[in-house]
Amino acid sequence: EEGLHPQHYPWSHSGLFDSFDHASIRRGYQVYREVCAACHSLDRIAWRNLVGVSHTADETKALAEEVEYEDGPNDQGEMFQRPGKLSDYMPAPYPNEEAARASNAGALPPDLSLIVKARHGGPDYIFALLTGYREPPAGFEIRDGMNYNPYFPGNAISMARVLFDGMVEYEDGTPATTSQMAKDVVTFLNWAAEPEHDERKKAGIKAVILFSALTVISLYVKRFKWSLIK
Ligand code: HEM
Repeated sequence: EEGLHPQHYPWSHSGLFDSFDHASIRRGYQVYREVCAACHSLDRIAWRNLVGVSHTADETKALAEEVEYEDGPNDQGEMFQRPGKLSDYMPAPYPNEEAARASNAGALPPDLSLIVKARHGGPDYIFALLTGYREPPAGFEIRDGMNYNPYFPGNAISMARVLFDGMVEYEDGTPATTSQMAKDVVTFLNWAAEPEHDERKKAGIKAVILFSALTVISLYVKRFKWSLIK
């Protein structure tokens, strides 16, 4: 059974000439770290990927160093703990799938690296899902531990509502309403799923300008070369 079709939202990056809103990516990282990272991994993103996108190199180093990573073996053949480096990947909340399921009543919180691309409806769907929790309609039977969400296929999801007004405190003073946090975390996850997005659009614009110029030149040359034969 399909979920309710999400509304189409005017993402600031959806136009042909639009880049991501990088202030929103930065706020969205904060939401991911403070809320989602308790259950969801983000395996394909390394700390260094944030540099120049949402954070400076120094800021990112400091964020990485807050996390302990297992490394080794050292000369004695032992594993050891060390602070994170820019080349480390985002830490996962659980050591393996069994542990993840055990902590979530049997359900598996998916890795969020590519979730915006993996789900039908993309960013619109994830936004609708995060903001769409409500009471089930009369007569809708919902199992214990499951939550009603009309946007989720089947309408019963094991993830409870996680975003509530004021849940994070944004350093730039943006009011952290539920919909603001949802928008920011979806923008962050959209960037994570296509980090080359801004460069791709820039290259596209350059290509269109270049090929238009070449077309004009070749038309001009053709008319010039054929003018005597007419
Ligand atoms: C599933 C996003 C926080 C537990 C999902 C899905 C998304 C998502 C996109 C996939 C839905 C689908 O399959 O279509 C997020 C975001 C979060 C967040 C953006 C933070 C804002 C959490 C937290 C927990 C959690 C804190 C644990 C307490 C789960 C579980 C599932 C899930 C167990 C699997 C649901 C099912 O298949 O029934 N989440 N999540 N999530 N999430 Fe989250």
